[in-house]
Amino acid sequence: MNLLLDEIAVAASRLAEAGVESPRTDAELIAAHVHGVSRGALHTVPDAEFDPRYWDDVARRASREPLQHITGRAYFRYLELEVGPGVFVPRQETEVMTGWAIDALGEMDAAEPVVADLGTGSGAIALAIAQEVPGAQVHAVEADPLARQWAERNIASCAAAAPHTAGRVTLHGADFATALADLSGAVDLVISNPPYIPVGSWVPPEVGEYDPATALWGGEDGLDAIRVIESVGRRLLRPGGLVAVEHGAPQGAAVYWVFAEENGWRGTRNHLDLAGRDRFVSAIWKSQPAWKDDAT
Ligand SMILES: C[S@@+](CC[C@H](N)C(=O)[O-])C[C@H]1O[C@@H](n2cnc3c(N)ncnc32)[C@H](O)[C@@H]1O
Repeated sequence: MNLLLDEIAVAASRLAEAGVESPRTDAELIAAHVHGVSRGALHTVPDAEFDPRYWDDVARRASREPLQHITGRAYFRYLELEVGPGVFVPRQETEVMTGWAIDALGEMDAAEPVVADLGTGSGAIALAIAQEVPGAQVHAVEADPLARQWAERNIASCAAAAPHTAGRVTLHGADFATALADLSGAVDLVISNPPYIPVGSWVPPEVGEYDPATALWGGEDGLDAIRVIESVGRRLLRPGGLVAVEHGAPQGAAVYWVFAEENGWRGTRNHLDLAGRDRFVSAIWKSQPAWKDDAT
C-alpha cells in the first residue's frame, strides 16, 4: 500500500456515507485527476507527491457535485468533452441511442447524410456522429446560450483533435420547434435526447442542483418536448428518414404512441438501454398514408 491508496480508501467511505452511488470509483477518479495520472497508475504515486488538494475535491463530491464538474471532463463514446456549470452532463444511456443512429446512418445509401441533433447540450451526440460517420453533415440545435458555449468549445477541440470532423457540425442557436427551416424535407436522421422528466419528480442532487433545468423538465407527463420533436421530425425528414428520441424508462409505451402510424410514422420501435430498460424510440418517416401502402 502507499499513502494515496490509503487516502482513497478513506475518501471512498466518506463518499459512501454521503450517498454517492459509486464511491470507490469516484474516489479513484478524483485522485487520478488531482495527481495527473491514469486510474491504473494510482499505485505509482510516491507518498511525497500526495497532493492534499485531493481532500478539497473529495469534499465537493461528498456535497454531491457531479464528478464530471470536478474533473471538467465527460467521456462519450470516443470523445472526451469539456463540461461544467450550465451544461447537461452526457450520460451512458445516450451512447446506446447514438450507437444505434451511427449504425443506421452507415446502412443508408447517402454519402453525406444530413443529421439534426435537437437540444445538443455539450454537443455529445452531434460530435460522436461527425466523428464516426464519414461525410455526415450534422446540425446541432441548442436554445440555451450557456450550454451553447460548451458545445462551441467542444466542437472546436474535437476539430483540432480529429480534423476529419472540422466543419461538419454546425451549431444553431434556436428553439428546436422552429429551427432549421432551410432543411425541411431534407434531413436523413433527426435525433434528440430532450428534457423528459415529469415536473415534480424526485431527482438526485447531482441532477437537480447541477444539470440545467432546461435540460430536465418535460411538463406534467414529461412528454412535452418529445411531442415537439415528433412534429419537427415530420417537417424535417425526407420520406424514409429516421427519428430516434430518448425518454425515461417508464415512458416507453407512451412515446411509442407519439410516433403513431396515423401521423405518417412506420416501423416504430422501442429500444432498451444497457440495463435492459426502455430508453429510446425510433421510427421511419413515410409521408404516405397507410392505405397507399396497402394498395401497393
Ligand atoms: C437532456 S439535455 C441533452 C443534451 C445532449 N444532447 C446530451 O445528450 O448530452 C437537453 C438539451 O436540450 C436543450 N433544449 C431544451 N429545450 C430546447 C428547445 N426547445 N430548443 C432547443 N434546445 C432545447 C437543453 O438546453 C439541453 O441542453
